[in-house]
Amino acid sequence: MSGGRRWTVGFLIVLLALGAVISYAGIQGAGRPVLPTNADERVEPLPTTGPVVRIDLPHEEPELPPGPNREQFRNACTVCHSTRLVLTQPRLPAKKWDEVVHKMVAVYGAPLTRDEEHAIVGYLATMQGN
Ligand code: HEC
Repeated sequence: MSGGRRWTVGFLIVLLALGAVISYAGIQGAGRPVLPTNADERVEPLPTTGPVVRIDLPHEEPELPPGPNREQFRNACTVCHSTRLVLTQPRLPAKKWDEVVHKMVAVYGAPLTRDEEHAIVGYLATMQGN
């Protein structure tokens, strides 16, 4: 290899290495978010132009048909969800209602004694039983 060719090959190798370094640096920087320079500046809320309007959406619970232990049912079974969830279930035998009520206690943590469970099952079996 002549002196001139050796220099050319050397120059090309340096050029390739430089290209690799530049593109690697580009890939590394590509994913980084560009932080705004005023990152710690407080954003003031826009001024309101009129009176603040408040909307109260209606909260309607379905009427509970009268029956034994209705108030106990209402108190215990509306802690986590509407009675609608209960009253839209199909009519079930007392044994099934007992399972459902006990699931609320055992799985979801409804704070009921076994006697209170029975009282509520009594209401459900009367109103929503078969
Ligand atoms: C501690 C919270 C809690 C209480 C109190 C509670 N439930 Fe539930 N109930 C749940 C949760 C959670 C679900 C599941 C909701 C879902 O799947 O979207 C549920 C679902 C239900 C369902 C739908 C069917 C099913 O098995 O998932 C019925 C029926 C039901 N509850 C009845 C009752 C009755 C009757 C009472 C009163 C004894 C009661 N719940 C009290 C938490 C509770």
